[in-house]
Amino acid sequence: MSNDAWNPTQYDRFRAERAQPFVDLLGLVRPRPGMRVLDLGCGTGELTARLLERLPGATVEGIDSSPAMLAKAPVVAGVSFRQADIAAIPDVSGVDLLYSNAALQWVPDNEGLLARWLPQLAPGAQIAVQVPRNEEHASHRIAALVAAEAPFAGALGGWVRQSEVLPLERYAELLWAHGFREQVCEERIYGHVMDTSADVVEWVKGTLLTAYMARLGPELGAAFVARYRERLVATLGDAHPYFYPFRRLLFWGIKG
Ligand SMILES: C[S@@+](CC[C@H](N)C(=O)[O-])C[C@H]1O[C@@H](n2cnc3c(N)ncnc32)[C@H](O)[C@@H]1O
Repeated sequence: MSNDAWNPTQYDRFRAERAQPFVDLLGLVRPRPGMRVLDLGCGTGELTARLLERLPGATVEGIDSSPAMLAKAPVVAGVSFRQADIAAIPDVSGVDLLYSNAALQWVPDNEGLLARWLPQLAPGAQIAVQVPRNEEHASHRIAALVAAEAPFAGALGGWVRQSEVLPLERYAELLWAHGFREQVCEERIYGHVMDTSADVVEWVKGTLLTAYMARLGPELGAAFVARYRERLVATLGDAHPYFYPFRRLLFWGIKG
């Protein structure tokens, strides 16, 4: 996104739930001494620092395009942060672990990015990526439907947010094609128990809806969220509690 609509306070409302996929992804990584790690789309950096729990002695650089998120970055020995666009990273040679949790869904042309980066990684280097893939759920479908309604469609110029995520098997093929013969590619459902179905709005306000809110501005953005809430609750029902199933893709590979 060009505008910085990321709000670390909103994003952190579901801190524990959002951390679990990060921990699971990190569990796939094979620790090696003195690893050089890039965390792409590191957000507030709170989780970036946790990479050291599994990779002691590593040198970690977190990269993110959002000044608001990076403003929260912790000061931790061995970890540094840089504001940059993931898509503009020209060279990842020398990196032992390319890590990205919940960010590549925002970056266009995942295929081209991986086709550029994977050949640059040396034998023994690893990649570990987690991306949400929840587009079939009402939480995501309804955002697209509201974006097609007046007055939002006009203000958005017909723009509807598309996830940049590839099919899981395509990530597996790309890994294989670039020499990552050992790999784990899996889809997981993370079930989140919310007090009410309306709480799903609070979840997506920290992520998916940021793209719409950035383009619509404060007033129309607020109207968008209100309309989204109305349609979402009408679809999900006014459930107490509400079980929110969230589909994610995780992939890991080590270069042979
Ligand atoms: C959902 S947050 C995930 C943050 C962190 N990895 C975590 O697991 O908590 C997505 C992050 O990706 C960043 N991001 C999105 N597109 C980006 C890009 N093209 N370049 C750099 N960062 C980007 C956003 O600024 C945001 O902080």
